Amino acid sequence: MKILVINGPNLNMLGIREPERYGRETYSDLEAKIKDYCHGKCEVTLKQSNHEGDLVDYIQSAYFENYDGIVINPGAYTHTSIALLDAVKSVMKPCIEVHISDVSSREDFRQISYIRAACIKTVSGCGTQGYLMAIDYLIKHIEEERNERYNK
Ligand code: DQA
Repeated sequence: MKILVINGPNLNMLGIREPERYGRETYSDLEAKIKDYCHGKCEVTLKQSNHEGDLVDYIQSAYFENYDGIVINPGAYTHTSIALLDAVKSVMKPCIEVHISDVSSREDFRQISYIRAACIKTVSGCGTQGYLMAIDYLIKHIEEERNERYNK
């Protein structure tokens, strides 16, 4: 099983950026944590960019490179990007939205998530552990879909 984990703008600044909100783990720590967690469970590829178009390309790569599912933290593009929503709809792969902080308890402008409409689940406010929760949920979902297809 192949899973793609995508991080959007400013997530490369983890550990430096507002540590009281996003924690002290760096982006490299997060990469290592996810790779370690996926070892023996699934194949994982991690991508990060500060640029919206790059994120669209990464989402599209889930289709062209046959990934089974996507975990994405779109950062601030969550609240602005119809392009990311359209990209997730285009690739027809199960996608989970992750936020390190609890966006529901933050500013009004963070209450809109465009990408959510194309996601099977949102994990928010669980710190970086949320990525691991999303991976588990995604694996279970993909396995269930496979079993359903097999039993038809
Ligand atoms: C974030 C929440 C977003 O509102 C913010 O713009 C981010 C990080 C989170 O992980 O909590 O960059 O996606």
